[in-house]
Amino acid sequence: MATSKTAQKKPDPCSFVIFGVTGDLAHRLVVPALYNLAVNDLLPDNFCVVGVARKAMSNDDLRDSLMTGLRQFATQKVDDKIADHLFQCVTCIEADPSDPASFDKMSKQLDELEESRKTGGNRLFYLATPPNAFQPISKELGRAGMLKENGAWRRLVVEKPFGTDLASAKELNDALLQLVDEHQIYRIDHYLGKETVQNILVLRFANGMFEPIWNRNHIDHIQITVDEKLGVGHRGSFYDATGALRDMVPNHLFQLLSLVAMEPPAKFNAHSVRSEKAEVLAAIQTQSEADALHNSVRGQYVSGKVGNIDIEDYRRTEDVKPESTTETYAALKLTIDNWRWAGVPFYLRTGKALGVKRTEIAIKFKQAPFAMFSETPVNRLSQNFLVISTEPTEDITLEFNTKVPGPTINIDGVEMKFRYKDYFKVEPSTGYETLIYDCMIGDNILFQRADSVEAGWQAVQPFLDAWKKAGARGLKTYRAGSEGPEEAEALMTRDGRSWRQLG
Ligand code: BG6
Repeated sequence: MATSKTAQKKPDPCSFVIFGVTGDLAHRLVVPALYNLAVNDLLPDNFCVVGVARKAMSNDDLRDSLMTGLRQFATQKVDDKIADHLFQCVTCIEADPSDPASFDKMSKQLDELEESRKTGGNRLFYLATPPNAFQPISKELGRAGMLKENGAWRRLVVEKPFGTDLASAKELNDALLQLVDEHQIYRIDHYLGKETVQNILVLRFANGMFEPIWNRNHIDHIQITVDEKLGVGHRGSFYDATGALRDMVPNHLFQLLSLVAMEPPAKFNAHSVRSEKAEVLAAIQTQSEADALHNSVRGQYVSGKVGNIDIEDYRRTEDVKPESTTETYAALKLTIDNWRWAGVPFYLRTGKALGVKRTEIAIKFKQAPFAMFSETPVNRLSQNFLVISTEPTEDITLEFNTKVPGPTINIDGVEMKFRYKDYFKVEPSTGYETLIYDCMIGDNILFQRADSVEAGWQAVQPFLDAWKKAGARGLKTYRAGSEGPEEAEALMTRDGRSWRQLG
């Protein structure tokens, strides 16, 4: 995130080695992001992209395939000169973790390439692969000596999902940490690549007026919503084994939660920021299975219309089991057991095939005592929400009450809004540029540390366990295009609160 005054420096010379280069992620996000960095002159002067494929492919074929992907997914008009310059450094290497000799060969090929490209031995290994390949690839890289930092840096970029529960996340952390040091691992959560998400830190800590009231004395509760309109589409096999909770909560929603709830870090550097984020996640109260059932709602969508698109029953989706009990919607009530947040509930909800796409954090301040206005006409009373929104628009809104102009006192709720695009020229981006740039400059402030990944899983594990035991019992349905299961409303109304309305 370029936290220092040396912002926007060019990264060190390096090789950018992509495992899974023939896949969707590399074509759709990683390479278009590299292209955007090239446009802004933020790639190293001495640089090469190495694509690792299980099956041999010529350099030209790989370049053509990446160029086709770039034309399809670029966030801006492709300048052929810049793209050609980027792709001219692309090399394809064949390697398969089930064949150790192929990794030894790769090691030699990389040495030779680095000699000619003068990249100084710095290497970034980007695992844009299915998660079951993370361990085998890293193990082979380690065995072949490619992860040792002898004067040059070696970094491992690991995509989501990082584990499927607490035990598997720990196992993956342990396995990786036997091969590399924590500072060499970059666990990606693409939510941290979003400007609005990064801005939570600045909003909270670069302004004097929020921090004094950012606590249980003034805040009633916090709602975090990540609603999506899309159904599961062609991701049935991944999604049916995963579900809304695993797919979104310990990673994306917890990133939002930790930024909004963390203590002020002593310094704006990776160590301080990541430590405070890990602390707050570790303070989420672990619930018993009975509490987890009481404090959650899970739902699955049935056919309906989202806008004018027909969505069929989740259970009829390609590669989804017809009797599946996987949730496509999850709502949770959590509490954070520390001095700042004791007694302030955090309500989280996320789902697929909903009526609106919306990502927001809504901070609800405590109600003013209205006794003095008890005789006053009220058109609409504001709930005093501060809303940080990422989707559908990037903005920050403060809702408050005001006097309606006129000779008598009449109160109405109004809002004050800051929209990013009204103030700043927002560059079109994939959301991966900052993350990739940070990996190359060695700034891991926006990446998850082992302890926070585990703290996240620890907090959701009781829900996973309780839901698994309950099976079909307790699974609600909701119509595609709706606001989610009705029972999610009850999670709030029983506390005398309500969700903010969609749309
Ligand atoms: C991914 C999930 O990590 O995040 C998807 O696997 C989800 O299921 C996506 O759709 C949401 O990302 P965004 O940036 O569109 O909110």
